[in-house]
Amino acid sequence: MKASVLALALQAMAVQAVRILQSNDDGWAELYLRTFNDALRSSGHDVIVSAPAENQSGTGGRDAEPSNRQAACHYNSCPPNSGAFGHNATRPDLNWVNSFPATSMRYGLDRFGPELWGAPAELAVTGPNYVTNLWLAVHFSGTVGAAVYAAHEAGVPAIAFSAASPAGGSQPWTTTPTPSHSLVYAELATQLVNKLVDSGKPYLPDDVWLNVNFPAATGACSRASDFKWVLSRINTGLLSSRDVEWCGSDRLPHEQRVYDTDGCYIPVSIGDASDRSTVNDVARQEIVLDKLRDMLVCLP
Ligand SMILES: *[C@@H]1O[C@H](CO)[C@@H](O)[C@H](O)[C@H]1NC(C)=O
Ligand SMILES: *[C@@H]1O[C@H](CO)[C@@H](O)[C@H](O)[C@H]1NC(C)=O
Repeated sequence: MKASVLALALQAMAVQAVRILQSNDDGWAELYLRTFNDALRSSGHDVIVSAPAENQSGTGGRDAEPSNRQAACHYNSCPPNSGAFGHNATRPDLNWVNSFPATSMRYGLDRFGPELWGAPAELAVTGPNYVTNLWLAVHFSGTVGAAVYAAHEAGVPAIAFSAASPAGGSQPWTTTPTPSHSLVYAELATQLVNKLVDSGKPYLPDDVWLNVNFPAATGACSRASDFKWVLSRINTGLLSSRDVEWCGSDRLPHEQRVYDTDGCYIPVSIGDASDRSTVNDVARQEIVLDKLRDMLVCLP
């Protein structure tokens, strides 16, 4: 799909515009983040990016004051000796921070957002991460770390997006044409954002974040419309209390199982921001279910 077609598709489904803080762990100049940024803006949202100056994959929830950079940023996206944080010269909404993902989220929420918006962020999103963050990986992911920082430390509802990705590493924001999988992930992530925004405030219950993983956008799953959303758990839940009644069961499926099922299923897990496990209380699970219900399907 061409970028202009994507923009039109998203404008057609535009909802109320909200202030969204966007981060990741692959770096501010990474392609997936920028494609998603374009899609959110096309949908009418007021988005500020605050993300690490370079790849900070696997740094979890670490948070440390940014230090001055000597080297250029990732993909030469800022010149050498640019200080501890900075922004695109013509796009002050695109910010980098020379530290961890959670730190960049903190700077975005505490500093760049209030400076540019004069108001707090209403929603935080991270990613889409280059490669998935399922189950055990959730504990090491900086993309998850930044989302959990927003939900737990700052009380801002947050969604972490991650995606199956071709080998070879992430790509720079200047990659042209934009690869179709990056466009599909951006469109899907924007659909979920708009669904939550449509559901009204509060967008998520207290201390809840969503962990979302897109299977490969190839073959039978090449278009956004091929994908289906499934409510899931981060951990298996063998020893957990019952889940909300859904799809004829009181145990939500494990996100890894959803992801591994043939048929373009996207697991959406209800995360507990206090420990990165699944929210083990039916009341908060039910609030999320009610918000997403009419876009969800059951696994076959
Ligand atoms: C900065 O923004 C300009 C204008 O949108 C764009 O052409 C350029 O690629 C951006 N550079 C970075 C590093 O974001
Ligand atoms: C980012 O860093 C991680 C950890 O060092 C590495 O495994 C990964 O391949 C890097 N990603 C890219 C796209 O360079």
